[in-house]
Amino acid sequence: MAGFEFAIAMAIVIAAALNSNVIEGKSMLKSMHLSWGTQRSGFLQPAGRDDVTLLLDPVSGSGIQSKDQFLFGTVEMQIKLVPGDSAGTVTSFYLSSLGAKHNEVDFEFLGNVTGQPTIIHTNIYTQGAAGREVQFYPWFDPSEDYHNYTIHWSPSRIVWFVDNIPIRVYRNYLHEGIPYPDLDQPMRVYSSIWNADSWATRGGLDRINWSKAPFVAKLRKFRARACKFEGSTSVGQCTAAAAASATSELGLDGQSQMELIRYKSLIYDYCEDYDRYKGLFPGECFKPQY
Ligand SMILES: *[C@@H]1O[C@H](CO)[C@@H](O)[C@H](O)[C@H]1NC(C)=O
Ligand SMILES: *[C@@H]1O[C@H](CO)[C@@H](O)[C@H](O)[C@H]1NC(C)=O
Ligand SMILES: *[C@@H]1O[C@H](CO)[C@@H](O)[C@H](O)[C@H]1NC(C)=O
Repeated sequence: MAGFEFAIAMAIVIAAALNSNVIEGKSMLKSMHLSWGTQRSGFLQPAGRDDVTLLLDPVSGSGIQSKDQFLFGTVEMQIKLVPGDSAGTVTSFYLSSLGAKHNEVDFEFLGNVTGQPTIIHTNIYTQGAAGREVQFYPWFDPSEDYHNYTIHWSPSRIVWFVDNIPIRVYRNYLHEGIPYPDLDQPMRVYSSIWNADSWATRGGLDRINWSKAPFVAKLRKFRARACKFEGSTSVGQCTAAAAASATSELGLDGQSQMELIRYKSLIYDYCEDYDRYKGLFPGECFKPQY
């Protein structure tokens, strides 16, 4: 009997959750603010209220952060990285919660000397612990034009996309004791550029050439199709909204795209770093990754 009615009731609950919490398509100026750094960084006016430049000079780097906090969803930024000699610089786009036991999902772009490849560095922190790095060389020049960098975060998996191609998946195996970002902890979206020349380029061999400053990364069209977090009552709503969204599975196309990118462009995967773990790899390395 009640199966059908229950399904309708659930559909209404989910629709209500989606309507009240999933935000989409706000301009960047409305959804982000400059949070630190050089005064000359800023939202480009009047050409587009949807653009921002981030500068790194000898005084400071700079960064923006979302005004809202989110629990699950998809966030996307179009980024044009520092052209020419960008050795020692790191530009980032990431999700992060607050505090020592914080969770974080990262895209970091490690600069290089002119003509040498940037590294697309991905990482994940759970309860404050990092160490799950996977790196790729881009299959295009990321400073020549804007490219889409997307993080999809649901209770079941996290997927990193470049130009809509999935490059990495981190699945939820909490029920087997494998860490996953807390399912009730919201995150903000951040983007920044800073001096990381002690490690970023060839392990610190190529330092920042300050005569080339300021280093400029351009961002545009930040979009969050994500569930806005407004306190503990949002946990249930956001979890329901994430369950109702169909984008968490990769599908066969996504899987074969990802396999091809890993074959062509993967540089480093912590799950293959035998020297580091001496065979004692983290638990997720033994599980299906997507
Ligand atoms: C980035 O995404 C936008 C919107 O989905 C799309 O129009 C554009 O072609 C994408 N750019 C690239 C380089 O894939
Ligand atoms: C920079 O270029 C060197 C030489 O091609 C390469 O080994 C390195 O992976 C590149 N990227 C970074 C961030 O060091
Ligand atoms: C730094 O850049 C300047 C200006 O292009 C150049 O003359 C100099 O050789 C560079 N220094 C290094 C260490 O590459």
